[in-house]
Amino acid sequence: MKEIRIGLVGAGWMGKAHTNSFVNALLNFGPESGKPVFEVVSDVSTEAAEQACKQLGYSRWTTDWQEVVQDEKVDIVDIATPNAFHYEVAKAALENGKHVYCEKPLTLSAEQSTELAELAKQKGVVNYVGYNNVMNPANAYIKDLIESGKLGQIIGFSGTYAQDSLLDPSLPITWRHINKYSGSGALGDLGSHLLSVSQFLLGNIESVNTLAKTVIKKRPASPGSTELADVENDDLIAILAEYENGAIGTISSSRVAAGRKNYLTYEIQGTEGTVYYSLERMNEVNVYFTSDDSADRGFRTVFLGPDHKGYSAFYPAAGIAIGYNDMKVLEANELLSAVSKGTPYTCDFEFGAQIDQTVSAILESAAQKSWITVKNKGGVIA
Ligand SMILES: NC(=O)c1ccc[n+]([C@@H]2O[C@H](COP(=O)([O-])OP(=O)(O)OC[C@H]3O[C@@H](n4cnc5c(N)ncnc54)[C@H](O)[C@@H]3O)[C@@H](O)[C@H]2O)c1
Repeated sequence: MKEIRIGLVGAGWMGKAHTNSFVNALLNFGPESGKPVFEVVSDVSTEAAEQACKQLGYSRWTTDWQEVVQDEKVDIVDIATPNAFHYEVAKAALENGKHVYCEKPLTLSAEQSTELAELAKQKGVVNYVGYNNVMNPANAYIKDLIESGKLGQIIGFSGTYAQDSLLDPSLPITWRHINKYSGSGALGDLGSHLLSVSQFLLGNIESVNTLAKTVIKKRPASPGSTELADVENDDLIAILAEYENGAIGTISSSRVAAGRKNYLTYEIQGTEGTVYYSLERMNEVNVYFTSDDSADRGFRTVFLGPDHKGYSAFYPAAGIAIGYNDMKVLEANELLSAVSKGTPYTCDFEFGAQIDQTVSAILESAAQKSWITVKNKGGVIA
């Protein structure tokens, strides 16, 4: 069995989620895709690095990410830091010939992401971005519905990714509120997931027009502090989009939407049917076909099951609920398989760069309050 050695950079929520996914990829898929070995973990926080090393089972820890990208034993550099550090860590890892697994969004700008996509291609290594919603068996099914023509010509996409995770104004400033660390607010954090799904299913977006708002303009500068600091980016954003295939999109995202917890929800309308999906009811896909007898027409709920790509790694029968971490397990397995066997994957750095090209046009259109054409470089996604 081929051993694949992981060097993790960033030991927060996603660092833990990635490690969990590698372990479970092995348990659910078996050793054919390689056996992950947890070589080294780094974090700028000594406490976080040391604790992650013990709790997650890495052989050693460091506070210097350069050691990880230069470590001869490391096969995959796994980047789970705040967004601002993705570029320099990924670039150094690629220059050292490492396979790279990077959390989304790939970088802070379309230019940086395009540069990384080109470098990764030159180096011929696996380059994977953590847009895990693309791995959701529901989306494989929805893509099949679109490509089989069952929904007819696709004319509309309407989606939102809304949470109330930052509705409380007493929550302090974090890296997510400061552009030099995050690049944008709700858009990059949540909206980029919605864009990844929409572009996976419908293809590239051609042009956008946007309204964006910072609802809570100041927050405590640190936990418990009475000093306030500026929130620099969007709490709430609404986008009108035209896709290259002619479909029209209404896309929005919010981190201050009261009552919404993980409301990644979208509807795709075609001339012969509609599909509606919400991540808050992750195992249910709702479909409507105009080809049904008129007396029977109505939305039907399809529960995810072994007929849907990826599901059977977890359960042998339909309707046994899969969850968020399972998308990450499917992602980790696809990555390990690409490294050990050269199998194809969707969310490469070119895909990540195309999402960042859309994000960049959205930010420009919000600033100018006008239509902006997306500078789509590289291939068409879908
Ligand atoms: N795919 C998803 O569903 C999903 C979900 C959440 C976050 N994310 C992405 O994952 C990334 C991390 O988010 P998170 O929620 O885990 O953040 P987090 O704040 O929980 O963890 C980030 C960790 O990185 C460490 N860190 C900061 N700078 C570093 C550096 N230069 N070198 C090494 N370590 C450093 C911090 O100390 C912290 O422990 C972000 O890019 C975010 O957008 C993706």
